[in-house]
Amino acid sequence: MLNFNPRKALDKIKPYVPGKPINEVKRELGLTEVIKLASNENPYGPSPKAKEAMVKTISNVQLYPDGRAYELKEALAKFYNLKMNQIVVGNGSDEIIKLLSEAFLETGDNIVQAEPTFSEYEFGALLMGAEVKKVPLKDYTHDLEGLWQAIDKKTKLVYICNPNNPTGTIIDEKTLLEFLDKLPEGVIAVLDEAYAEYVTSEAYPDSIKLIDRYPVLILRTFSKIYALAGLRVGYGLGTEKLISLLEKAREPFNVNLLGQVAALASLQDTKYKENSKQKNKQARELFYLECEKRKINYVKSETNFVLMGVENADSAFKGLLQRGVIVRSGSVFGLPHHLRVSLGTSNEMEKFWHAFDEMEVK
Ligand SMILES: Cc1ncc(COP(=O)(O)O)c(C=O)c1O
Repeated sequence: MLNFNPRKALDKIKPYVPGKPINEVKRELGLTEVIKLASNENPYGPSPKAKEAMVKTISNVQLYPDGRAYELKEALAKFYNLKMNQIVVGNGSDEIIKLLSEAFLETGDNIVQAEPTFSEYEFGALLMGAEVKKVPLKDYTHDLEGLWQAIDKKTKLVYICNPNNPTGTIIDEKTLLEFLDKLPEGVIAVLDEAYAEYVTSEAYPDSIKLIDRYPVLILRTFSKIYALAGLRVGYGLGTEKLISLLEKAREPFNVNLLGQVAALASLQDTKYKENSKQKNKQARELFYLECEKRKINYVKSETNFVLMGVENADSAFKGLLQRGVIVRSGSVFGLPHHLRVSLGTSNEMEKFWHAFDEMEVK
């Protein structure tokens, strides 16, 4: 008999439920045309410069990547006006969340986070045997006063997902500063800004300038506006001291070769990024109009996804799936009357509304 003795911490971990992959839906439902509006990807695809850089590098993949991601870090340092040793690059920002958990959390510690928010914060904490203290959103937005009150002597990390996934809402600079000003010593505020490049609100914090003033770690990614989700490149920005602690837990070749060159090329293609931002803004406004036409409530978003009201999230999710449209049911986030819809191309959004209008139960 095979007997395993895993760590107790694993008992509490539920497997991550990702947006359903297109091919799986095609196979399961016998459909030929399926669109995915479920994982907040950039529907316009990567910058041509990123593709060119990957093609150029493809015949070198017998080589290990640069373990320090020197050129990418150099470019990021220039982009943000930081030093290279204020940047840690990861296999997606998911990996930075894991590094943070490994570097800071052990049994007896806790993290404080909103509910609902991005699921990987909880995963990282549970994996390390730490507790998770959840503070409900207020009006779909982080309740910073509530988060502050939840912090205790065992708190090591407080996560602020800004804009928040799955609601798309932001915390403004003034509110964030008031919170950081009273943050107890020894607590790191993790500002997850995966969707920062999509934000159009003037009130959004310029968090980079906070690095030297507060114990913050900023998370950014190439998976969203830069459209490189499949390559897995994300990064963290903080003080040299904080980054050096995360570097201790990092594997030597954590960011793949193609990811490094594509991320570097994408970062430099500012026009392409700006274009994605503008197209997303238009898609967002059109989405609101379509909701209003149908008297559907929605949460105003600063991202490339929108939370919209439905009567029953699971039935609406299934109805759309049967019509070849994959979205996320809010019930995974504890929002049984919402769907989270990633904003696609205009063709995709037309398909979405067509499928939505066809459904009887929504
Ligand atoms: C808020 C937030 N943070 C982090 C991530 C992880 O991104 P990455 O692809 O860089 O691991 C996501 C992905 O959906 C996200 O929504």
